[in-house]
Amino acid sequence: MHALESYTALIEQEIASIQFPHTPSNLYDPLRYFMNLGGKRMRPILTLMGTELFGKNRTESIHAAIAVEVFHNFTLIHDDIMDEAPLRRNMETVHTRWNQNIAILSGDVLFVKAYQLLMLQQGTHLPALLEIFNRTAIEVCEGQQMDMDFEFRNDVSISEYVEMIRLKTSVLLGCALEMGAIIGNASKEDRHLLYEFGQHIGIAFQIQDDILDLYADPEKFGKQVGGDVISNKKTLLNLKAMELANSAQKIQLAELSSEQDAVFKVAQTKELYSQIGAKESCEVEMQAHYNFAMNALDQIQLPEVNKKPLIALADYLMVRIS
Ligand code: IPE
Ligand code: IPE
Ligand code: MG
Ligand code: MG
Ligand code: MG
Repeated sequence: MHALESYTALIEQEIASIQFPHTPSNLYDPLRYFMNLGGKRMRPILTLMGTELFGKNRTESIHAAIAVEVFHNFTLIHDDIMDEAPLRRNMETVHTRWNQNIAILSGDVLFVKAYQLLMLQQGTHLPALLEIFNRTAIEVCEGQQMDMDFEFRNDVSISEYVEMIRLKTSVLLGCALEMGAIIGNASKEDRHLLYEFGQHIGIAFQIQDDILDLYADPEKFGKQVGGDVISNKKTLLNLKAMELANSAQKIQLAELSSEQDAVFKVAQTKELYSQIGAKESCEVEMQAHYNFAMNALDQIQLPEVNKKPLIALADYLMVRIS
């Protein structure tokens, strides 16, 4: 992680300089609270790296980078309402600490704030940046709706799942990188290859997120462990378990989906998944997407040394604990 520290330092400094008014306090206090909870800041790092990859200075894409992080934080505040999540980054979620209406509205402000920050990215690139940012924002909503719809379906296929996580998670990683590449004056072809890299890293990242949701150390994870099982999310763990289960295990899994005792439901599901080998099967899938990502990066005709930071970040994300 040492290599990433200089990126995070710049990003934290920029985030700290965002001025939110003080009144109405129920609108702005939650924003200050949430933006200061930290997080990995992976998306803005991707933007800065996307610019550096093509030989430009990281500071050139700083506003686009912060815009992506602010947008991401907006999605998290609303996602936590939708997922009824009590914890985020080891602290109470906004709707838990304040209430749902406050979380909706302060999330909305962050969404607009992201655009204000992007507008600071002056120069000829702004229309191209807005185009990809707008498309991505809509796609994230599409993915989030699919995620919610899937809670009530028992016939979700793995390809539908991959499309859902591509939309809710990966497109934003691709967007973060491509915005960096646009500012770095990359060719259209290289921009697309970098976007492809982001898509596959994003899919691997969300598969890892699904695994961590059940298997992470609660002390280090910062989110409620087992939340996906409690709300019957169609995660890759769940789909792989259903695919690989024998008929008795299939019945048990189906019965567990309507279990009301959350602690029992999580423990039993985890036990069944390990009997079935669901986690190992997810890890294979995750590795495949990591490899696809590296293939896309390989095709960008630049010296290997330029690609090292991106590879280091991707490697870190595959072994993260929170
Ligand atoms: C959480 O993203 C939402 C997902 C797409 C899984 P991160 O794991 O990047 O969250 P922070 O910003 O580091 O807290
Ligand atoms: C969230 O996916 C993706 C977005 C916020 C768009 P999850 O619901 O799995 O993210 P976490 O686990 O709450 O961070
Ligand atoms: Mg969630
Ligand atoms: Mg969610
Ligand atoms: Mg999750």
